Amino acid sequence: MEDQFEPVIVAFCCNWCSYAGADLAGVSRIQYPPNARIIRVMCSGMVHPNLVINALTKGIDGVLVCGCHLGECHYVEGNKKAVSRAEGIDLMLEDFGLEPERFRLEWISSSEAQKFAEVMTEMTETLRALGPSPYRARG
Ligand code: FES
Repeated sequence: MEDQFEPVIVAFCCNWCSYAGADLAGVSRIQYPPNARIIRVMCSGMVHPNLVINALTKGIDGVLVCGCHLGECHYVEGNKKAVSRAEGIDLMLEDFGLEPERFRLEWISSSEAQKFAEVMTEMTETLRALGPSPYRARG
């Protein structure tokens, strides 16, 4: 059987919600693909677009940014800033010849372990179908 392409995903998770949601998914033994490398950040709004684009142009297949639901950011408006940044990232993806599916912004609370697992599963499946980042071979 031919080996299935396994995408590498970088997931920036807000400490207060999504990281705890990911942790709960692990503790609850909810199954999801192990394709993500999780990076804990204090707020989704602190993930600069350059970080996302750098990862994607260095051959990471997909980047996920997860934060608290709107209205629940611990820094009040941090996740609104993440929305603005995501709009900029979407435009930059086009400039860099990257498919829009390679970047995703999601709100996942500390109790939404199931949602975290579903987002990880969906993103992994989408990227498997899309194939490797065009930058992967370029190094
Ligand atoms: Fe979680 Fe701002 S503190 S998104």
